[in-house]
Amino acid sequence: MRLETKHVLSVAQFDRRFLLALFDRADEFAALPPREIAPVARGAIMATLFYEPSTRTRLSFEAAMTRLGGSVISAEYAASTSSAAKGESIEDTARVVAGYADLVVIRHPVAGSVARAASVVDIPVINAGDGANEHPTQALIDLYTIWRECGRIDGLTIALVGDLRFGRAARSLARLLTQTVGTKLYLVAPPVTRMDALLVEELRSAGLQVEETGDLEAIAPELDVLYQTRIQRERFSDPEEYAAACGRFVIDERLMQALARHAIVLHPLPRVGEIDPAIDSDPRAAYFRQARNGVPLRMALIEWVLAPHPVGMLSTNGHRHA
Ligand code: NCD
Repeated sequence: MRLETKHVLSVAQFDRRFLLALFDRADEFAALPPREIAPVARGAIMATLFYEPSTRTRLSFEAAMTRLGGSVISAEYAASTSSAAKGESIEDTARVVAGYADLVVIRHPVAGSVARAASVVDIPVINAGDGANEHPTQALIDLYTIWRECGRIDGLTIALVGDLRFGRAARSLARLLTQTVGTKLYLVAPPVTRMDALLVEELRSAGLQVEETGDLEAIAPELDVLYQTRIQRERFSDPEEYAAACGRFVIDERLMQALARHAIVLHPLPRVGEIDPAIDSDPRAAYFRQARNGVPLRMALIEWVLAPHPVGMLSTNGHRHA
């Protein structure tokens, strides 16, 4: 039997069946005391190659791998401390790292670069964010959090707020939501960070009910999930454009009053002013629980990626491989 290398490059590769199996598995990991976790990654090495800043993504990947009994080698500031600083291509770096590790997690500022790395190696490559394109594992965490907090992934009214132009987490989540049924999606963004029309069209043709609005307060009472994002300063070439996008939609106590009692507020973090810390103690503020969910979800994902055969609990059946 030929074994397939399981890359994780885009949310487009996941179907609903896979997602629900992954969430069940993540829940099992979340419930287990660390000592009772089967060391399914024992003997395996994960390389983390980060060409952009990260706290949650890198650390939770490394924590997940460690919890599964595996080891981690890391180029934390790869842009300045790896050979990229000498002009090495991502393909060459990937080829070399594939000789040292069994799995590599890459974050890179250029859209498509992680897929390029994956195309030249035969170890699994996980996209931890490629420019303004995709951040598939963050979207998995986000939908897993929605599933845990709301008890379902279907029939929800969800608003994505903030930077829907450069925010890869929001873009990936929007695409992942096409696997849900009966979702109403509001897109709430300042004019300069609106989601591009092509992606909006893609969401609509996949069956999502999408509505763009500039009035967050008006839709707040309808929402089950409010997903706030940071304006991605590092992706703007014009500081004035950035300034124009900032501070337009802030989640504060006033907005929380308009929100339903059962609703939740999510944010991939880091936040820089778009959520008032005064609301952190509100039980509906779920963003730190969301960050914590990164470890069990990534454990389930690593287990699937490293599984030596394509048949099993998290099978690739019905899984549209990228
Ligand atoms: C996000 C990212 O890097 O894309 N953070 C994350 O991974 N949790 C969002 C952001 O930087 O605003």
